[in-house]
Amino acid sequence: MTLRLAIVLPTLDERENIAPLLARIEQALGPQGWEAIVVDDASADGTADEARRIARADPRVRVIERIGRRGLSSAAIEGICATAAPFVAVMDADHQHDPAILPEMLAALETGECDVAVASRYVAGASNAGLASARRERGSRLAVRLARRLAGVDLSDPMSGYFAIRAEIGRTLAPRMSQIGFKVLLDLLASAPEPLRVREFPLQFAQRRSGASKLDRAVVFDFLVGLYDKTFGRVVPTRFALFGTVGGLGVVVHLAVLALLFRAGDVAFVPAQALATFAAMTFNFWLNNWLTYRDRRLRGGRALLRGWAGFCAACSVGAVANVAVAGLLKGYGLYWLLAAAAGILVGAVWNYALSSRFVWKR
Ligand code: GDD
Ligand code: MN
Repeated sequence: MTLRLAIVLPTLDERENIAPLLARIEQALGPQGWEAIVVDDASADGTADEARRIARADPRVRVIERIGRRGLSSAAIEGICATAAPFVAVMDADHQHDPAILPEMLAALETGECDVAVASRYVAGASNAGLASARRERGSRLAVRLARRLAGVDLSDPMSGYFAIRAEIGRTLAPRMSQIGFKVLLDLLASAPEPLRVREFPLQFAQRRSGASKLDRAVVFDFLVGLYDKTFGRVVPTRFALFGTVGGLGVVVHLAVLALLFRAGDVAFVPAQALATFAAMTFNFWLNNWLTYRDRRLRGGRALLRGWAGFCAACSVGAVANVAVAGLLKGYGLYWLLAAAAGILVGAVWNYALSSRFVWKR
């Protein structure tokens, strides 16, 4: 029997969930015609080892382990691009998504009835009982409205993490996708040049079986970043916008430290300014590591120390460029405020380019 469907399972600490989920997939799809691709981001609980153990005995199971990478979206896309199957489904590995509806979704794709089959928690016959709290549910509904408004996606559940498409569509759209955060489906739909034909399937969104959700901490932030990326991202790239925002907060830190020092007592300006600069750079390094480059976050004492030193070096180069450009423009008679702003912009671009290239390199 030929390969019809690949099921991509992004995992982060899902060791206990893998084997029972594969059994449920087999129950839904039968013994043949499918493969499962576990895309694991080097989980600490040994998920990848467990998946490899299963895969050694079962050639329908494949494993991609990514080292030093994070992110549900990029993991899903990597899985989508890794199969030879004509159709591919993405689903959570924690049993919140029921594999029993896979055959219906696949059939709708195979007959050409739709380009994308989405398992929805918000159509007739569906339920979202698996959403842990009322707060989470309100957030989910608000996100749906925002997605409709801003990304122009008219779906009952554009946040669904459970969908299936023709693999070729995925490969074609992958280079245009922002691949940031959790919203794979939204990203996919918003990246299509022609609207994709979508059909929704009612999903009984269940409770996760084992382990905890990875979404809570970063979900809102990732979602907003994703919306920004789809609306203004072409004008000012998302990562640069974050970098710039962090830089702006750094200025606040700088001024606050100066004010504190002056209030504390009789401090000379130059050492105070040096200390404030240092504090602001350290703050910016920390916040950039936490937000701007969260998908490439540096961890562990040595990596952090080296990253911080590299960031300070990058900022020094940026500062030189800043002063040089501002000085030059002022020399040409430009109004001082504009000259300073231009200097800051050029400095920021330098900081950003050097940081992306040398501190948080891929
Ligand atoms: N490879 C990889 N890398 N997998 C990840 C990562 C990551 O950084 N983060 C999460 N996952 C995996 C989890 O192991 C799980 O299999 C799946 O992605 C979903 O993660 P959960 O942590 O269970 O997310 P959730 O249940 O809170 O959110 C689900 O529902 C949302 C809507 O309420 C997901 O399906 C979201 O996509 C969906 O928007
Ligand atoms: Mn989950």
